[in-house]
Amino acid sequence: MNLSFDVDSIRQDFPILSKKIHNKPLVYFDNAATSQTPVCVIDCIKDYYEKYNSNIHRGVHSLSDEATNAYENARNKIKDHFNINESKEVIFTSGTTHSINIVSNGFSKILKREDEIIVSGLEHHSNIVPWQMMIKNNGAKLRVIPLKDNGELDMDEFRNILSNKTKIVFLNHVSNALGIINPIEEIIDISHKNGAIVLIDGAQSAAHFKIDLQKLDVDFFTASAHKLCGPTGVGFLYGKEELLSRLDPLMGGGEMISDVTFSKTTYADLPHKFEAGTPNISGVIAFGKAIDYLNEIGLDNIEQYEKSLLEYANSKLKEIDGLKIYGDTKNKTSVISFNIDGIHSYDIGSILDKFGIAVRTGQHCAQPIMDHFGIDGTVRASFSFINTIEEIDHFYESLIKVKSMLS
Ligand code: ALA
Repeated sequence: MNLSFDVDSIRQDFPILSKKIHNKPLVYFDNAATSQTPVCVIDCIKDYYEKYNSNIHRGVHSLSDEATNAYENARNKIKDHFNINESKEVIFTSGTTHSINIVSNGFSKILKREDEIIVSGLEHHSNIVPWQMMIKNNGAKLRVIPLKDNGELDMDEFRNILSNKTKIVFLNHVSNALGIINPIEEIIDISHKNGAIVLIDGAQSAAHFKIDLQKLDVDFFTASAHKLCGPTGVGFLYGKEELLSRLDPLMGGGEMISDVTFSKTTYADLPHKFEAGTPNISGVIAFGKAIDYLNEIGLDNIEQYEKSLLEYANSKLKEIDGLKIYGDTKNKTSVISFNIDGIHSYDIGSILDKFGIAVRTGQHCAQPIMDHFGIDGTVRASFSFINTIEEIDHFYESLIKVKSMLS
């Protein structure tokens, strides 16, 4: 256990943690679905509406200037945090799903019938469905990297399906359903040597360890603020300038244009080409604040602390007879996806809620992964740096009770 990590003081930053659920203290183990929000981020949103609520990039007045500066400052924070070369390569979106749709839509016209795209078998539906919609338009073929028995990607099979027809490879950095960290460095390297572009969905990785996008040399990357202690409805898409410039925007409207007549419109330069309409201004500014907050704690400290939580929870849960963990691999974030023999995941989740414990149950928007294991769902406990060893003990004891109630 990392004793230098002052979790008690960190927990004071999260007002929701004093809430009671069914008269029990809230134990929030659904951090992979959405992270909780520290008071500095909540105050940041309040400040915007109380002090400088105004539209951006449009007004000559002071309030608009203030809002525009705060919004663009948030863009610079994202750029610095992820070590992105230019702030114009950061596109604000409504979240990861929106970002993926920008890329799949952009490539829709570029790809041809003979082209292939590769997705991993370890995906959330948001990294499957947009590409299925896209290939309906251009006839390109979708290939899937299969999973090994333990849930890891079969890299030999990846090498087999990769060919000179492969134009795009896309996958999540970390599986939302299992927490497995994919070998993206290797995948990016092999794909690039083969001339393919790589999109990484960082929705489940960015909150857990530091990510350097220039070092990764990835072509596109996306993450959502609400999994990074920020607000819902905002995220970003990173793309290399040369690639973003080649893509048509997903949405047309104000702000994304350079010149509009009834016969023809030309688009604005990056990043505005992809930011049609009034964006989630307070959300973007608060996203910047959330990044500051995480950096104050330090992603390296978070990573180390969460590893110790995972290790402890793994050892406790493995003491429970009939409990099976899926994706129990070495390289994971702090997620445990499991079932208990003879008990439905939904029933486990519902009773845990009565003990104040929030977990996610079911397919986790990742049906192909459940199909791989021949199950209809799991209980997913996803820990973060706001959680404690005492909470894991309470979780363990509650699971023992659930088991004796339902077996
Ligand atoms: N994608 C989110 C999850 O894994 C909602 O729960």
